[in-house]
Amino acid sequence: MKGIILAGGLGSRLRPLTLVTNKHLLPVYDRPMIYYPIQCMVNAGITDVLIVTGGTYAGDFLNLLKNGKHLGLQHLEYAYQEGEGGIADALKLAEDFADGEKICVILGDNIVEGNIRRAAGDFFTQKAGAKILLKEVPDPQRFGVVALDGDGPTARITGIIEKPENPPSNYAVTGIYFYDNRVFDICKTLQPSKRGELEITDVNNEYLSRGELTHDILEGWWTDAGTFESLHRASTFVAQGGANHADLAAARAAAKH
Ligand code: DAU
Repeated sequence: MKGIILAGGLGSRLRPLTLVTNKHLLPVYDRPMIYYPIQCMVNAGITDVLIVTGGTYAGDFLNLLKNGKHLGLQHLEYAYQEGEGGIADALKLAEDFADGEKICVILGDNIVEGNIRRAAGDFFTQKAGAKILLKEVPDPQRFGVVALDGDGPTARITGIIEKPENPPSNYAVTGIYFYDNRVFDICKTLQPSKRGELEITDVNNEYLSRGELTHDILEGWWTDAGTFESLHRASTFVAQGGANHADLAAARAAAKH
């Protein structure tokens, strides 16, 4: 399975920091933010990766990541997103790279404690469709949120709402998604939302309406790092040793390159 990390957008919620660098190059404790989704891919055995980025500082990704070998990647490509058309707009740029294969997509500002290898394996054997990972959160208004038809692990998703004022549950859709190759056709049918973006939630709702969306609960700690509060929380968590030590050691060794 190929991996796609979406690291475009303007990071406007982190201004003024993002006036002089790309959001995903900001530090989360001892590493640039983009190391975390890369590590998440590598831990899951996904080493053929495309990073979609954009903006004035896109060239700095190359300076930092080079060919990605020192971070455990076999193959690293880059794509450039014009403007800030949304997550699904950025994903469109990955069609040639995916080349018909199933893909794992991780948002560049998502930081995960656990390993997604099992979910990746489950999706690999899933005949078709998509898979999303959910996490219970105290502030669901900030995320895509699922409506469920019951409690517990057997509950089914009945809908997904992007940043609901009145969340139907406390289960956020994390920025880790698995798709079959039809995702690119779905992206082409999308219309911009009220915030002027092509929404990944619309993609997931399309798979849901086809009866082809599965889900899992993400184990371990998870956060985005796209606001000052969540960036601080992410750094604190990593500093307190929340990330697994093997990863930390590997990242420190990689940082020497
Ligand atoms: O973190 C999980 C949440 O991420 C989900 O629960 C939401 O359903 C999903 O819409 C998204 O919400 P955010 O509002 O937090 O997304 P944000 O605009 O902060 O973008 C997250 C990442 O996606 C960002 O770090 C880089 C990538 N992105 C975003 C935009 C708008 C792009 O690559 N291109 C873009 O144009």
